[in-house]
Amino acid sequence: MPGLKGKLENRNALITGGSRGIGKAIARSFVEEGANVFLCARGESALNETAEELRRVGGRVSIHVADVSDRGAVARMVDQALAEFENIDILVNNAGIMLPRRFMDYTFEEFDRIMNVNFYGVLHVTRAVLPSMMERKRGKIVNMASTAGKWGSMNQSAYNTSKHAVVGLTRCLGLEMAPFHINVNAICPAGVEGDEIDSMVEHWAKELKITKEQARKNITSRSPIGRFVNPDEVAALAVYLASDESDAMTAQSLSICGGYLML
Ligand SMILES: NC(=O)c1ccc[n+]([C@@H]2O[C@H](COP(=O)([O-])OP(=O)(O)OC[C@H]3O[C@@H](n4cnc5c(N)ncnc54)[C@H](OP(=O)(O)O)[C@@H]3O)[C@@H](O)[C@H]2O)c1
Repeated sequence: MPGLKGKLENRNALITGGSRGIGKAIARSFVEEGANVFLCARGESALNETAEELRRVGGRVSIHVADVSDRGAVARMVDQALAEFENIDILVNNAGIMLPRRFMDYTFEEFDRIMNVNFYGVLHVTRAVLPSMMERKRGKIVNMASTAGKWGSMNQSAYNTSKHAVVGLTRCLGLEMAPFHINVNAICPAGVEGDEIDSMVEHWAKELKITKEQARKNITSRSPIGRFVNPDEVAALAVYLASDESDAMTAQSLSICGGYLML
């Protein structure tokens, strides 16, 4: 029930890519902590289903169909969120896509698409939300980057480039926004259970001509904790970064990866 734990009581949160996966887990945790959530994604039916589910938990939930790579659509979405909620206390830039390819196999259009969603999407939404946060001298921005934003991975050059850009933006914006009491941090997960991991496992099964089960085991066996991360574990970190408890933390990119990466 909202308000049960109440770390985000009466806060208004805009969460991009809130219909599925990690974004949905974050939305649920935020609602459980007392926040009102405004979710966006491209697919309307998943958004509707998630909103219904969260309303049953007891939250105030609004949804908006928008593609974060479309600057005009993002401006309309943020206008609607501000009209409905009056202000946005928390922005979670979570929407993202992945398309594994060898570098020479990407079409320029595919590379552009990944940059446009994963990096320019963050830029569009952040630029649209920041003026009202700066005016109020208050805000929390949580960017969903990845361990891919801190290291290199085979056949992931577009994704890793986009996530390095998100980490870079987080660092710079954290510095610029500190005088406005706006915290800007990134979460860097590795291998979170869900559709993105399923498609990566499928890619490596095909590349290495092994079964999906073997491909999955190849990846998890390299993790010190021997498993993928759960979306709820990422959501718990997002709650911390969105709450007053993290007021002294900004410009950081926190890895949640079972010890895979130590920076
Ligand atoms: N899963 C992992 O292992 C992992 C690891 C590290 C980082 N991440 C990052 O975590 C974030 C969430 O990943 P996930 O695994 O939860 O992905 P997911 O299950 O595929 O969910 C992605 C969400 O983003 C939305 N979305 C995708 N493209 C969008 C666009 N152009 N505009 C607006 N919404 C869009 C999707 O809805 P629609 O398709 O309907 O738009 C969906 O709600 C991503 O940024 C991802 O890169 C994931």
